[in-house]
Amino acid sequence: MPAVNQIELHPLLVQTGLRAYDRSHGIATEAWSPLAKGGALLRNPLLGALAEKYGRTPAQVVLRWHLQLGNVVIPKSVTPERVAENIDVFGFELDPDDVEAIETLDEGHRTGPDPDHFG
Ligand SMILES: NC(=O)c1ccc[n+]([C@@H]2O[C@H](COP(=O)([O-])OP(=O)(O)OC[C@H]3O[C@@H](n4cnc5c(N)ncnc54)[C@H](OP(=O)(O)O)[C@@H]3O)[C@@H](O)[C@H]2O)c1
Repeated sequence: MPAVNQIELHPLLVQTGLRAYDRSHGIATEAWSPLAKGGALLRNPLLGALAEKYGRTPAQVVLRWHLQLGNVVIPKSVTPERVAENIDVFGFELDPDDVEAIETLDEGHRTGPDPDHFG
């Protein structure tokens, strides 16, 4: 049995089925591209509103969402300020309703290849 399943996973691709499968088999789910590469996702109005509500940045809201789902999350940044921002996500907690609201952003959007179609 694998210990970790690393899959593309962010609010635009919430992977409900695979996460449930992993959980039921004791497999940790690791988010690949957890910020959807930091593009349009971070300008999403819902994430902007939640960032304002919690006094955080949209990236911090997304990372907190991953943590509260139980995902292993390792965002990438070459920007020292963002690295500091991305680790500073343990001092607040999203309300359960807000965790659910973020899941409604799912649109099956991939930033990387679909492992069901390759070769
Ligand atoms: N399994 C493996 O062997 C392996 C190898 C390599 C990478 N990975 C995974 O692949 C993924 C690579 O990252 P990715 O680029 O696909 O996705 P990502 O982590 O979702 O996004 C990285 C992008 O978001 C930007 N960003 C980071 N923090 C931000 C913040 N707080 N605010 C605004 N923008 C921010 C970064 O910009 P800047 O960098 O310009 O700040 C970069 O352009 C990571 O999840 C990594 O763990 C896995």
